[in-house]
Amino acid sequence: MKKQPCAHIVKLGVNVDHVATVRQARRGAEPDPVAAAAICLMNGADIITIHLREDRRHISDRDLRLMRQTVTAKLNLEMAMAEEIVAIALEIRPQQVTIVPEKREEVTTEGGLGAASCRSRLLEIIPKMRANGIRVSLFIDPEDEQIEASREVGADCIELHTGRYANARTEQDAEAELAALEKGAALGRRLGLHVNAGHGLNYHNTLPLTLRVRPEELHIGHSIISRAIFAGLAAAVRDMKALCDEASRIFAAQA
Ligand code: PXP
Repeated sequence: MKKQPCAHIVKLGVNVDHVATVRQARRGAEPDPVAAAAICLMNGADIITIHLREDRRHISDRDLRLMRQTVTAKLNLEMAMAEEIVAIALEIRPQQVTIVPEKREEVTTEGGLGAASCRSRLLEIIPKMRANGIRVSLFIDPEDEQIEASREVGADCIELHTGRYANARTEQDAEAELAALEKGAALGRRLGLHVNAGHGLNYHNTLPLTLRVRPEELHIGHSIISRAIFAGLAAAVRDMKALCDEASRIFAAQA
């Protein structure tokens, strides 16, 4: 008898950095990303994702500390490998960290981590995180070298960078990026890694990506917060959660 694939659950991680960006435009108290995180969780988000950048341009230390106390689901901290940020992560102990490359001049994270070229630093950081009960994800491009290096340095998960797929301007280019992501996800799973995806995902490109790549977690920020400006954050999260649920239902029907 043909082996049936298992039903696959897709978790939604909402990145609330952009709420903090609006707050920082006035350096005031609102909108508060801590409150945004609570609304996201009340409306179906499975994970809250925040990036504590070295320059603190949006999320602050106060946001991280409060979210660690108030986020009842998984808190995923995106972070660079800087000494100071590593120490904060080890003190605060979110359930998961996603290690990303970080450049001061960039508007947003511009590409995947060169996991292969920073093996020694990752080999220092990852065991410390894991010893503190923190799951480690590496944000990487869907390239064999990066995926294999992620396995070698002992990461639990990879988050495949979907930015090139999201920015593809033709159907052919999008298809090529999807094929690379699908292949990368398959290799990651063969190596025993959990496979997540994120960056540039929106209400049009998330479902096709999810059905092909089958990520366990999606990490989505800008498109949800943009939509929330018009539709209200609650409706925005429900809509995106519905996409995840739709994907899960399709997988369940295929199982
Ligand atoms: N995943 C990672 C690792 C990121 O750095 C970001 C941006 O902070 C996201 C996901 C979310 O990307 P976007 O805001 O484009 O949805």
